[in-house]
Amino acid sequence: MSKVIALANQKGGTGKTTTTVNLGIGLAMRGKKVLLVDADAQGNLTDSLGFHEPDNLPVSLATVLTKSMLEEPYESDEGILRHAEGVDLMPGNIELSAIEVSLVNTMSRETVLRSYINTVKDRYDYVLIDCMPSLGMMTINALAAADSVIIPVQAHYLPAKGMTQLLQTIAK
Ligand SMILES: Nc1ncnc2c1ncn2[C@@H]1O[C@H](COP(=O)(O)OP(=O)(O)OP(=O)(O)O)[C@@H](O)[C@H]1O
Ligand SMILES: [Mg+2]
Repeated sequence: MSKVIALANQKGGTGKTTTTVNLGIGLAMRGKKVLLVDADAQGNLTDSLGFHEPDNLPVSLATVLTKSMLEEPYESDEGILRHAEGVDLMPGNIELSAIEVSLVNTMSRETVLRSYINTVKDRYDYVLIDCMPSLGMMTINALAAADSVIIPVQAHYLPAKGMTQLLQTIAK
């Protein structure tokens, strides 16, 4: 049984991407099969894993999500990159901003990412989704796809207060 975990916080720079990379590679070092999904248009996760020009990749998460929305076929490992440290990566880039917009008018708009992940997750023990710093459609999709959520947060008053909104969204 694979476990899908979203790394989310609408606040920026709280350590979502850093946690995704290190948790993912840590799990891989323990012999787990891991897929990291870059659900942030900034492409920081993709960049951190050595793919320094995420916007120039021919296939990314946006590509397969678009095909999924248009009900076009795609290969089950389409776009997935292998990393030397033992994790697989579905890269993300600026094209995800356009997906955010098109999701709004799509049927089952909260579950497009879940449908995609359901087609690949059987090959993995863990799927970690690095979210963008917003509570937009991509983050809602990541929450709907996840079995659990890790919220990296600074242990200060205002960041902790900001977490309340995220917890309400997760509950919904
Ligand atoms: N545990 C930590 N202790 C100190 N600094 C950290 C820690 N984790 C991450 N950082 C630093 O904090 C900065 C932001 O981290 P990161 O990019 O992972 O945050 P993020 O939540 O993914 O940001 P964004 O919201 O833009 O996606 C980076 O410079 C990173 O090196
Ligand atoms: Mg990040």
